[in-house]
Amino acid sequence: MKTKLWNPCVYARNARYVSELGMPVLDLLDPQPGERVLDLGCGDGKLTMVLRDRGCQPVGIDSSGEFIAAARALGLDVRKQDARELHFENEFDAVFSNAVLHWIAEPDLVIGHVYRALRQGGRFVGEFGGFGNCRAIERALVDELELRGIDASMASPWYFPTTGEYQDKLVAAGFGVPYIELIPRPTPLPKGMPGFLETFADDFASLIAANQRGEFLAAVCDRLEPLLRRSNEWIADYVRLRFEACKS
Ligand code: BEZ
Repeated sequence: MKTKLWNPCVYARNARYVSELGMPVLDLLDPQPGERVLDLGCGDGKLTMVLRDRGCQPVGIDSSGEFIAAARALGLDVRKQDARELHFENEFDAVFSNAVLHWIAEPDLVIGHVYRALRQGGRFVGEFGGFGNCRAIERALVDELELRGIDASMASPWYFPTTGEYQDKLVAAGFGVPYIELIPRPTPLPKGMPGFLETFADDFASLIAANQRGEFLAAVCDRLEPLLRRSNEWIADYVRLRFEACKS
């Protein structure tokens, strides 16, 4: 199983906005004091901490040992675990996930594990990249790879489904789906496109020889500039898929 390597310092520098913009999905979860909540893909624990501050008993899991160390330093109950290998059964009132599910190419496996982890009546509330998310960025990465003679058809690690596709998967696992929506969300990038690519595009860049990666990433930025840069600000073409599913 492929697992992306994360650097918590790089993430905090370039992509803090990802957890900050996760507040609406946390509000959709509407966590109640005393609830046991699994934070699936807790990263460095910033939203797990909000769950704790709201009186929940959150448990975070993440496949990145570096992220788990950062979250543990905040005093959180977190475990290094891959979402494709969860073993919880009827334990949680809710499973919450922000900005993680697009990294996992086996959605049915994850949804099945989440269903098992929830108690009867529990809810699965999440948000991740939906159909069309960062399409211009993905296209530019693929085009620049192909310009260099690299077959980029399998390069993307990202899973950005339609609402129909994801709803079908949730229902097939046994969930009811009271809410699912695609939300276009043009997103200013605090560290520009270079910061975005440094944080999220290493699966593409790693196909290029190390001494040519700088030139490759600069070419991707040049290609995107007319599309995503306005008066000195980079705005990424995010589209979120937000949902609530219930185990009834
Ligand atoms: C994100 O988590 O913000 C993200 C990850 C991959 C592609 C686009 C966005």
